Amino acid sequence: MCGIVGYIGKKQAYPILIKGLKRLEYRGYDSAGVALLTDDNELKIYKTKGKVADLEAYSADKDISGTVGIAHTRWATHGEPNSTNAHPHISASGNLAIIHNGIIENYAVLKKQLCEYGVEFKSNTDTEVLVQLIDHIRVTHNVDLLTSVRLALRSVIGAYAIAILDKTDPNQIIAARKSSPLVVGIGDDEFFIGSDASPIIEYTNKVIYLDDGDIAVIRRDQEVKIVDFDNEENFRDIKEVELNLAQIEKDGFPHFMLKEIFEQPSCLKDCMRGRVNAETNKILLSAVIDHRDALINPRRIIIVACGTSWHAGLIGKQLIESFCKIPVEVEYASEFRYSNPVINNQDIVIAISQSGETADTLAAVELAKSKGAFIYGICNAIGSSIPRTTDTGSYIHVGPEIGVASTKAFTGQVTVLTMLALTLAEARGTIKHHEYTKIVKELMAIPDKMEELLKVNDKIKEISKVFTYAHNFLYLGRGYNYPVALEGALKLKEISYIHAEGYPAAEMKHGPIALIDEEMPVVVIATKNALYEKVVNNIQEIKARNARVLAIVSKDDEVVSKMADAYVELPETVECLEPMLATIPLQLIAYHVAVCKGKDVDRPRNLAKSVTVE
Ligand code: G6P
Repeated sequence: MCGIVGYIGKKQAYPILIKGLKRLEYRGYDSAGVALLTDDNELKIYKTKGKVADLEAYSADKDISGTVGIAHTRWATHGEPNSTNAHPHISASGNLAIIHNGIIENYAVLKKQLCEYGVEFKSNTDTEVLVQLIDHIRVTHNVDLLTSVRLALRSVIGAYAIAILDKTDPNQIIAARKSSPLVVGIGDDEFFIGSDASPIIEYTNKVIYLDDGDIAVIRRDQEVKIVDFDNEENFRDIKEVELNLAQIEKDGFPHFMLKEIFEQPSCLKDCMRGRVNAETNKILLSAVIDHRDALINPRRIIIVACGTSWHAGLIGKQLIESFCKIPVEVEYASEFRYSNPVINNQDIVIAISQSGETADTLAAVELAKSKGAFIYGICNAIGSSIPRTTDTGSYIHVGPEIGVASTKAFTGQVTVLTMLALTLAEARGTIKHHEYTKIVKELMAIPDKMEELLKVNDKIKEISKVFTYAHNFLYLGRGYNYPVALEGALKLKEISYIHAEGYPAAEMKHGPIALIDEEMPVVVIATKNALYEKVVNNIQEIKARNARVLAIVSKDDEVVSKMADAYVELPETVECLEPMLATIPLQLIAYHVAVCKGKDVDRPRNLAKSVTVE
């Protein structure tokens, strides 16, 4: 949801900024822009509609000198994605350039006031209002930049991570955050700014994560100074980031998404490392050890999440209810936050978020917290906002996920939810010892089974060619595999732009069956579990309407594999762990169909990986 990057130091800023933008492109790619203070102390702004590569082409013959600059890749909120609305935005005096990730909610009121003072606007963005306001305060009150930023931010309602460059002071960048992430990297005689650490780690692993209300003054040859809106100094620790470069590069794969699909076996091992003991067959989650009393006996659990994380939550509900016998509700965070929910201090709220920055999930957490609930976070991005707000939680530890369509985060989330459900069930005495041990052993075997399953990639590539023509898809599953059907449909929609719906298989006859004909492929997860026979009947109903069926079946299935037009066999496992395997072929189908259609798999249109606005 917009990526921002900045540099001040002794090196040329432009190549660092462009490389940084490319690493942040997963956050948005409607337009890109850069502001530089050139060697001649000119403030140069280059911006264009489209991706970072378009910006590079646009600025190829321009003056890109300078050792200080800021840059932005946009996911449009206010104003259409054209070059005028692209960031950086410049103030009327021509002295200040700003980049912004977030939304200024009261921009219309502020803009009206500024227009009354005679300020003229060039763009339709909320961001330009902010830079005009800062400059207006600076000029009319004759104060320094920091003071004008502080005063301006006091009158702003909304979410922001901003960086400001000042033509009159080439030795400084000012950055600030509220509800949108911002990291400052500390190098040798140089500083970096990023929406996350990915544009920074190539140069330094020392970072400061800014907190809400922080304003950072970043000056050449000085220590970073952080103040609040009242100019009181805030001292923040310098942290060491554990990210490495290989984790954020494609490593020979054509797309990050494919790399991340193939990484899942090793990611899940990382997720379980130190938590699942192969000798004792026991799971130890530090969060449960540390907060046993708060976690063991809740009145109920509410899971809040968005998108793919919400699908993982649906699986979590089934795991927790069946093993722990605790009632669980799963809510879209965006609905939950405005639903005036009845919650109290006997409830646990589990917030699931890959990025740890999704605005709706964060707001849901804050609401639940204000009502006294105990909050458990399941996140991937270390040090992100949600884990910093929750009472406790478990990172999924699958490494940075760059492809906009979430893959390894989903299986990582399901792994953590499985570990959590089993741990709580054991502590509550609601699971039989042999069942617990069996599932733990099966869980440890999942990475190897995934590895085996991934060999199906070539077969799926071939199958996908046949399905590329379709305009609509239906995905069906039951029980634990119903959320997998939803997730499979979402993956296809996100990256191939083919309309796809996930449905509980038996619900098909209450509507979707009307859509089924030979033009509409149906993907059915039909593994041999308690509801197998019923799903077989559904497949017969589909075949009777001449649709093509792609079935995900259990090993050695002889019934569905004969009925289906194509099928993929899953390695055997226990029913509650099937989603982790069944999701792999569905990720691969979405990937290969999108590639066949020539779509930009890692940067699907209109989407962003980290949705830091409502
Ligand atoms: C966006 C992403 C999805 C993700 C969802 C929730 O829509 O494109 O892949 O599932 O946000 O994100 P979170 O970071 O909270 O899991």
